[in-house]
Amino acid sequence: MSQIDFDQLLAKLSAVSEEEFIDPGRLEWPAEVDPDAWYFTPELISLYGSDIWESMDEAQRKRLSLTEAVNFFSLNIHGEKHLISEISRRLYTGEESELSRYLLHFVDEETRHMMYFSGFCRRYAEKIYPDRTMHGEDSGDAELDMFLLFARINVFEEIVDHYNRIMAKDKRLAPVVREINRIHHVEELRHLNFGRNFLKHCLDRHIDDWDDARRQELRNHLSSYLQFVWKQYYNPEAYQDAGIDEAFEVWRVVANAPRAVQHRNEVNQKRLSYLRKLHLLEAA
Ligand SMILES: [Fe+2]
Ligand SMILES: [Fe+2]
Repeated sequence: MSQIDFDQLLAKLSAVSEEEFIDPGRLEWPAEVDPDAWYFTPELISLYGSDIWESMDEAQRKRLSLTEAVNFFSLNIHGEKHLISEISRRLYTGEESELSRYLLHFVDEETRHMMYFSGFCRRYAEKIYPDRTMHGEDSGDAELDMFLLFARINVFEEIVDHYNRIMAKDKRLAPVVREINRIHHVEELRHLNFGRNFLKHCLDRHIDDWDDARRQELRNHLSSYLQFVWKQYYNPEAYQDAGIDEAFEVWRVVANAPRAVQHRNEVNQKRLSYLRKLHLLEAA
């Protein structure tokens, strides 16, 4: 992708962000939790299909759906918080003003997403689950670090969007949670569009100087990051808060249960094909 094409895409994305601003102040928040409502699509709940899930009645499953929503929104808050600080320190450091202009919108949108997510967690759970992420050090090569940052963001956002897209349409869910997922999905489509094109543009620029060894390093880095992203979808505290006995024991085994492995493989297969096409992940 040429620099001219990339700049045109950035200008277009910035224009849409400017025209289609979504105001978090307009969201309608019900006064309290509805115990009869689902807050997370049952088939996406991390325990779905496990023995413990089969032993739960509908009221317990609905209670778990609320704590799973709080976990999902919490992991988004921590991801966005990190991304905002990492992107912000790279703004206006060089010639690429069209890039900085768009990234400013990216940061602005992530800030507003944190308002929806934290608004939900504070109101209905009075907590945000702690950050369980770890972040590596910079390599010293600014362009490589920027590339890896957006490659990780792309992995993170593709998986989140799989959940958003399904939950935005799930009529079983409480309207507020459906709306949060819908709004996030709409704005994340632009971030995903940017991310895929940024990675392609960068790889094209480095076609000659990023050799096979470097490209293998990129793949190793991203496949460990992918494992790490999935770990955050299984949270023992969320199980405990839903009233599940021996929550830590449940957590210890659930991620390796056949249904959970199959679910992750299906999502990876569906959502990470572009990264595989760029040879940034191994073929599935
Ligand atoms: Fe976001
Ligand atoms: Fe995003």
